[in-house]
Amino acid sequence: MSPGASSRAGVLRRHRDVLPPEVAGAALSLGEGDTPLVELPGAARRLGGGRKVFAKFEGANPTGSFKDRGMVVAVAAAARGGAKCVVCASTGNTSASAAAYAARAGMACAVLIPAGKIASGKLAQAAVHGARIMQVDGDFDDAMSAVREMESAGDAAVVNSINPMRIQGQKTASFEIAEALGRAPDVHCLPVGNAGNITAYWLGYREAHARDGCGLPKMLGCQAAGAAPFVKGGPVRNAETVATAIRIGNPQSFQSALDAARESGGRFAAVSDDLILAAQGFLAAREGIFCEPASAASLAGLWAEFERAPEFFPEECVIVCTLTGHGLKDPDIVKIPKPEIHPANPDALKKALEKIVSDG
Ligand code: F0G
Repeated sequence: MSPGASSRAGVLRRHRDVLPPEVAGAALSLGEGDTPLVELPGAARRLGGGRKVFAKFEGANPTGSFKDRGMVVAVAAAARGGAKCVVCASTGNTSASAAAYAARAGMACAVLIPAGKIASGKLAQAAVHGARIMQVDGDFDDAMSAVREMESAGDAAVVNSINPMRIQGQKTASFEIAEALGRAPDVHCLPVGNAGNITAYWLGYREAHARDGCGLPKMLGCQAAGAAPFVKGGPVRNAETVATAIRIGNPQSFQSALDAARESGGRFAAVSDDLILAAQGFLAAREGIFCEPASAASLAGLWAEFERAPEFFPEECVIVCTLTGHGLKDPDIVKIPKPEIHPANPDALKKALEKIVSDG
């Protein structure tokens, strides 16, 4: 390895054989992709039988979310096409990722975000990477409609998932999963907001199957009950959920996400905010993985669908849940217990520790 080279090659090099030739192998990289596929024994025990559950932890990407896979491809293509600026609407993660890759590529970045509904970590990222932040007096769907109008705005390239390069980059997660398992899972659960990611995963699995014969999973798209256009059968107004990343009522990739569920023999599930937070707590306290609320919707959706229709998950099946973003993105959601106060005295602290040990 040459000095300073990353052992994580990045999506553009690692997956060059499945990416559009105009960007495959391009030099832009923050070492995105190749995220851990972690077995979740606690989640498997809850389901019982011989079921196995894995998490694809996309929070391990450079900016802490799955967006980096698609953003590196979209920004590389925009730079190649001569764009001077990238622009996106975002519930937070897209803006953080766009800001980071634009900074790296020496481009300007403008982000449109819904007023007051962005987790603090994501806003901090957009700001620190130097993005111009435009707060829109409306929700994500309003910001997204505005961005659609900007597609022809001079030298600015739209890097939302309506940009096909984003889908190309994000499909690489399916190749990694099939490679790590030696086959595709039986069921793939993932949170759905604007619906680019489920579209991308399904594309990736189909391509991986055509190339390697790895099989195809049933796709389970998981939505928050207050923002569930796929479960309701059409756009919803005034979407509301604690999982701000997926607070979206009018997904741009509606039809392709419907196709993914239908063609795969899969479906959509809606889950309450309480179940989302319970799944987030379970993943953190039992499995050691801290993901943001929207990400936990995948496990919450698995629980809800398992209760509703256990036959969807045969006794010996392999299930993968994508955990889309890191928990540190949204620290304010965590209830931090009031700390016990102890004197700064080694003997007293040792006694307190002994009590913790004996309490188990
Ligand atoms: N999980 C997280 C953490 C997200 O940030 C998003 C989308 C999703 C799931 C849903 O993915 O939109 O492809 O269906 N976040 C976008 C954003 C909308 O602006 O960051 P999707």
